[in-house]
Amino acid sequence: MALTLQSVAIVFGLLLPYGTVQALPSHHSCCKAFRRQFPASQIDLVFPDAYSSVQESDIVASCRINPTSAEEVAQVLNITTESGCNFAVRSGGHMPWAGSANIEEPGVAIDLGFLNKTTLSNDKSIAHVGPGARWGLVYDALAPEGRVVIGGRGEHIGVGGYLLGGKSCGISFFSEGLGFASDNVVGYEIVFANGTIAEANSQENTDLFWALRLGSTNFGIVTRFDLKTTTTTNLWGGLRNYNRSHALQAAKALIETNQRSQEQGAGLDTLGLFIGNGDEFLMNYAHLKPENDTDVFEPALDIPFTSDTVRSNVTLKTILQELDALFPIGRHVSFRTLAFVPDAQFMIDWWQEGFKIFAQYEGNSNLSWTFTYAIIPVSMMRAAEAANDPYGLDASNGPLILTNLNAFWSDSLDEDDVQCKLAELLEWGKTTAQERGLLNDWVYLNYASPDQDPYAGIPEANARRLRHIRQSVDPNDILRNLWPGGFKL
Ligand SMILES: Cc1cc2nc3c(=O)[nH]c(=O)nc-3n(C[C@H](O)[C@H](O)[C@H](O)COP(=O)(O)OP(=O)(O)OC[C@H]3O[C@@H](n4cnc5c(N)ncnc54)[C@H](O)[C@@H]3O)c2cc1C
Ligand SMILES: *[C@@H]1O[C@H](CO)[C@@H](O)[C@H](O)[C@H]1NC(C)=O
Ligand SMILES: *[C@@H]1O[C@H](CO)[C@@H](O)[C@H](O)[C@H]1NC(C)=O
Ligand SMILES: *[C@@H]1O[C@H](CO)[C@@H](O)[C@H](O)[C@H]1NC(C)=O
Ligand SMILES: *[C@@H]1O[C@H](CO)[C@@H](O)[C@H](O)[C@H]1NC(C)=O
Ligand SMILES: *[C@@H]1O[C@H](CO)[C@@H](O)[C@H](O)[C@H]1NC(C)=O
Ligand SMILES: *[C@@H]1O[C@H](CO)[C@@H](O)[C@H](O)[C@H]1NC(C)=O
Ligand SMILES: *[C@@H]1O[C@H](CO)[C@@H](O)[C@H](O)[C@H]1NC(C)=O
Repeated sequence: MALTLQSVAIVFGLLLPYGTVQALPSHHSCCKAFRRQFPASQIDLVFPDAYSSVQESDIVASCRINPTSAEEVAQVLNITTESGCNFAVRSGGHMPWAGSANIEEPGVAIDLGFLNKTTLSNDKSIAHVGPGARWGLVYDALAPEGRVVIGGRGEHIGVGGYLLGGKSCGISFFSEGLGFASDNVVGYEIVFANGTIAEANSQENTDLFWALRLGSTNFGIVTRFDLKTTTTTNLWGGLRNYNRSHALQAAKALIETNQRSQEQGAGLDTLGLFIGNGDEFLMNYAHLKPENDTDVFEPALDIPFTSDTVRSNVTLKTILQELDALFPIGRHVSFRTLAFVPDAQFMIDWWQEGFKIFAQYEGNSNLSWTFTYAIIPVSMMRAAEAANDPYGLDASNGPLILTNLNAFWSDSLDEDDVQCKLAELLEWGKTTAQERGLLNDWVYLNYASPDQDPYAGIPEANARRLRHIRQSVDPNDILRNLWPGGFKL
């Protein structure tokens, strides 16, 4: 029987405020060294909701280590490389697939949960953020100063993985105007495989600074991100639910709203479409002003709805909490991704294909599958181009629709069968998009499943440069050999 970390913690007794996994039987050399060199309070700690998916929380490492500083991360890396222990690194634990940020025995898990501090530069223009913070904590720290950063569109998502996933675009609502989150990082502190701590920014280690935006687990453990801030404002927005019969109209409205918003050029508007096997679908609205002073959303607002939270003068926090509620923690989770040229009929046809492929699960409330369709506006792609982003997205192909095809299900279902059907549904979308001339080869890393390759579609020159930089910071391939999680170049 697979024990979840939480259940292990319960079996061995809970030490508040965190569950503490008492020494699982292990004579592992790295765990021994950790126990020798670190206080017990930094070993085998399991933060609440450490992992969002059951596939990750079910995994039990030989031990866990919780460093509290970059120096301690270096010390931990030195131990793991000297002893040749396999390891995983967790920040917010939101990458859903098994082994992305956790690792089975005999591997050890490096948990950055204590590296969660947010501080603001004197002029408030830069926020220094620890990778182990969740975005809600960051926003809460900056809000009293009237500041916000481009980060996750949900309070629970972690900083570390999100910002190393390239173009982190699930969008902050500021993205239409300010571009991708990863292009608003002005500096990194990183620990290399050999235990050296370095800075990467526009002055120091500039190649690495470029590479880290699509860094995943290839270059080292990032211990601090420096993020450009912007001023906060309350928003107009919320969620609306709709009867399925209006799906095509909603897909068209998504595309038209983006066109209108881009024509106005203010960069204030976000509209997303969540449509799956539920009786209803929903759209999320956000306008970066406290009031409804625009007609860009009209095509969507005109669609008859069944329920609604859209309102004036709402805080970012409230909007994020509404979105978080759509993604329950503690279930089986799978993400897959595809990008394509906006086409309402294709969006609907792909969704309809889902009902065919998942026919045997019809009416089974233990499974939900959803297409999250978000527009990547030309303004965002231009911002990425201007920042010379490693993905090499070409704004002249824009705008695009970025899909997160996701599913959430309970233990009662067969993991392989659900994953298989999701893979089949993705393949249908890919083939059909190709046939209709809509396919774009961007594979957004943070939404990718392990059977997708986010590095495959990037321009060859960028891939070569990334590999060259990796070679320079990890000449002995230590990270490739010992750190299986994340996506490798
Ligand atoms: C419910 C939900 C909603 C989401 N919404 C969005 C969204 O709106 N927009 C979006 O872009 N994405 C979204 N995502 C995807 C999310 O951004 C990615 O899964 C991201 O990687 C999560 O970061 P994390 O720190 O929480 O993850 P983790 O699982 O802790 O880490 C992810 C990967 O990065 C590596 N890593 C983590 N920290 C470091 C570090 N400091 N140095 C080196 N490597 C590190 C880990 O080893 C792992 O491989 C969502 C995910 C979920 C589950
Ligand atoms: C890690 O090892 C490197 C040598 O590779 C050494 O310079 C550094 O001081 C060590 N760091 C710690 C914190 O032990
Ligand atoms: C942040 O880290 C500190 C220790 O550095 C810890 O005491 C605190 O509980 C952490 N906060 C959260 C919300 O995880
Ligand atoms: C949704 O619309 C269809 C077709 O108009 C209608 O038959 C159905 O009753 C509606 N469902 C709900 C829940 O309103
Ligand atoms: C928003 O404003 C537009 C016109 O500016 C109006 O048509 C629409 O009904 C308003 N919608 C909401 C939800 O307030
Ligand atoms: C908007 O909300 C803020 C609190 O978030 C409040 O202080 C302010 O008075 C509100 N403005 C209006 C016009 O209602
Ligand atoms: C749904 O899950 C519950 C609890 O695990 C289980 O009792 C039930 O049989 C499941 N239903 C189906 C249709 O699989
Ligand atoms: C560790 O690696 C970095 C990056 O390659 C290098 O600059 C540094 O000199 C190395 N440090 C040691 C102690 O070998």
